[in-house]
Order: sequence, then structure tokens, then C-alpha cells
Amino acid sequence: MLTKHMILEPTDINIQKAVAALRAGQLVAFPTETVYGLGAHACDGVAVAKIFALKNRPQINPLITHGADQDMLEDYAIFDERARALAAQFWPGPLSFILRLKEKSGISDLVTAGLPTIGVRVPAHKVARDVIAALGAPVAAPSANISGRLSPTAAHHVIEEFGDKISFVLAGGVADVGLESTILDLTTHAPTILRPGAITATDIELVLNEKISYEDHTTLTPKSPGQLLRHYAPRKKLRLHAVDVDENEALLAFGSTRFMAARHGGAVKNFPHDRIRNLSEAGDLYEAAAYLFRYLRELDQSPYQSIAVMDVPKKGVGIAINDRLQRAAKAQES
Ligand code: TXA
Ligand code: MG
Repeated sequence: MLTKHMILEPTDINIQKAVAALRAGQLVAFPTETVYGLGAHACDGVAVAKIFALKNRPQINPLITHGADQDMLEDYAIFDERARALAAQFWPGPLSFILRLKEKSGISDLVTAGLPTIGVRVPAHKVARDVIAALGAPVAAPSANISGRLSPTAAHHVIEEFGDKISFVLAGGVADVGLESTILDLTTHAPTILRPGAITATDIELVLNEKISYEDHTTLTPKSPGQLLRHYAPRKKLRLHAVDVDENEALLAFGSTRFMAARHGGAVKNFPHDRIRNLSEAGDLYEAAAYLFRYLRELDQSPYQSIAVMDVPKKGVGIAINDRLQRAAKAQES
């Protein structure tokens, strides 16, 4: 269901409309540079509860709190030296920190899932920051999709997810980054990446001058209930490491497909448009990240039974791309 009038241009009047909705305890879907978010006033527990209900999200899974700037978030989270150095380098931008929660912060317990820690970030998208600044309070926002499904990278994806269950989406173009923020836990002795993203361990190491650990949870036995959650899954089955394409498959390509063959004859280069998407013909990982969720969504709507996915190198932002692909493929095994 695509109702155009539910997508609002981010004019001053519409930003005010979003702020009024947040003040009234309603949800607002808005653009960020990573993916579109579904926001509530982070101190309004009733409003935050609506996020969990609408997304069908387990309440054990905490939300990221978004600030208009670091100052706003300093009222809620305890920033240490490492957090300050990283914020100076990467904020506003696609990096979230897990920090200790301040006592009596006023943040809803649902946002933190009752933990003594809080996930925070300052998004780079102007519309997101304008809304939060005008509200004058932080906004708790997960990605604006049904729990476990692909994150939305365009306003119309949000409508595809929720239809008229939300009153409107603020438009902000196609998300630049296309993958959710990197999550860095700074409450542990050694900083740990909990979710890889466009800002890589190497980027972070250069600022902190210390080793950053990252456990690839997609290849480990899950240790916590949160890690069991279905994630980033299209409806169709994914077949990873594809070097050819079966009769009933669409193809998510990366790099050149000039010499790739289909199993039952014919060349991939002659595929109709609805059967193939190329994340980046030039092999650019940032370009691939930006298109990943959008192309998975589009191939999910193609008439083919499943999606063959070519390998993407596991380096730099490719680590985050592989994380999402492996979770998507794994979600369907269970
Ligand atoms: O790019 C993003 O981060 C997007 C946009 C909207 O900002 N948001 C997003 O939110 O991806 P969500 O809810 O889909 O993912 C938040 C992740 C979850 O995996 C959650 O478990 C983790 O952050 N998280 C939040 N607070 C945490 C905490 N206190 N400790 C550990 N993990 C936390
Ligand atoms: Mg999400």
C-alpha cells in the first residue's frame, strides 16, 4: 500500500508537525543517514511502548537514543574520554556508543530494556537533527521496519512496512550510508563492536590508539536471547557465495558479471531488470552498503523463487555488509 500523502517533505511546518506529534506521545518516522528511524520522545514510556508494539519487537531489545548534539546526550549518558574523542571525530555520524546511563536520567526504562547502560548517537541527517533540536529532547528510534525485516533506506519503504499504522513519514531522500550505525560498547575494558557498520574497527582504532575487539556473532553460538532474533530478512531464501545462477533465482551481484553464466544457459548480462541488481559494478563497498537493503527489497518483490548473492569482500565496510547478509540467510534456516 503506497499512500503518497503520508510522505511529507521536511518543510518547517512539517518539522513542527513532527515535533507536535512527539510531544503528544505519538510516533514519527524520519530519515537518518543510516536508515529511516521510527521515533518516540525518549522520556515518554507510553510513547516508547508504541514502538515495540508497532514493530512487534521483543522488549528485551533496547533502543538507540538520538540527540541533536553531544551536549543533549551528556544529560543522559556518562561520557568518558574515549567517548568524547570518538564523538569529536565521528559525530554527527553513523556511530553509536553504549555508555553508562546517568542516574535519574529520565529516559524510559523501555529504551534501555532496564539495563544500566544506554545506546546513544547524533545522526548526520539534517532532518533528524532539526526534529530533535526543535523537540529539545532526545528521540529513541529503532529502524522503521517490522522487527526482523530489512531496514528501510527510503521513505516509501517505511510505508511498505507499516501502511496506515503510522500517520506520516518525513522524507529525506535515500539514506546515504544504507546500513545501521556501528555500535561500539564503551562500558567494557576493551571497546567492543557489537554491530559492524560504515565506521570500521580500523577507523576507531586510529582515534583511540588501542585494539578494538569484534566478535562475529553470525558464526558463533548465540550467547544472549537478543542474538537469536531474526534479522534483516527478506521473505525469499538467500543463497550466499553464488558463482552462478539457477533457473528460479534472481541475482544480487557485486562487481563485474560480464562473464557469469546462468546454470540453464544464457549469460547473466542478458538478465531482465527484475532479475538482477548489482550492489556496485565498480566493486565499491560504500556504494554496495548504500544499496544493500534497497536491492534485497526489490529482488524480494521479483517473480523469482530465491536470491543468489555473490561474495562481497570481508574488509572495511564489507564486514558490515557480510554481517547483514549472513544474518538474513541464517534467519531463514530456522
Ligand atoms: O543506524 C541506526 O543505528 C538506526 C537509526 C534509526 O539510527 N537505528 C537502529 O536501531 O538501528 P535498532 O533498534 O534497529 O538497533 C539498535 C541496536 C539493537 O541491536 C540493540 O540491541 C542495541 O542497539 N542496543 C541499544 N541499546 C543498547 C544497550 N544499552 N546495550 C547493548 N545494546 C544496545
Ligand atoms: Mg533494526
